Amino acid sequence: MKKNTVALVGLSGTGKSTLGRALAGALGWPLLDTDAMIVGAQGRPVAAIFAELGEAAFRDLESVALAEALTGPAAVVATGGGAVLRPANRDLLRRWATVIWLDAPDAVILARLAAHAEGRPLLADSPAARLAALRATRDELYRAISDMVLDTADLDPDALAAQVRRCLT
Ligand code: S3P
Repeated sequence: MKKNTVALVGLSGTGKSTLGRALAGALGWPLLDTDAMIVGAQGRPVAAIFAELGEAAFRDLESVALAEALTGPAAVVATGGGAVLRPANRDLLRRWATVIWLDAPDAVILARLAAHAEGRPLLADSPAARLAALRATRDELYRAISDMVLDTADLDPDALAAQVRRCLT
């Protein structure tokens, strides 16, 4: 494929951060996690940003972090699940990165999210129904911008990272 940056997109719990770490290690590139960039700049967790500033403000911060991550030196960029919602973000992803869509069955995602209780405000109540609703609007957006889709149900990060590397050469 092309381009010197790899972006991982997909719903929460599909393994973007886990695969991102493995892939960044394998490629010798930094891992830039847009949620972590936002949290670092704001000095408060994602759930607090949603609660105190609202989702629209979070999306503005996310667009800034995404542009910074994508337009810098070669990197693996782990995006938040909703980063694909804005057309401008999708344009940036297409332009600057090889885009990998990570997906897994809802049951797998829900089990992972239950095991890692850190706040996902959009999935806080009725996670199964919320996840289905997010998937219904987002799958087509992920599909539209992705160069490759990876099923992460059996998440062996090193094996998946090797698979991505083969596609990059
Ligand atoms: C979101 C996903 C989260 C985080 C925020 C919003 C979403 O990131 O950006 O809670 O809209 O799906 P992860 O995909 O890393 O959980």
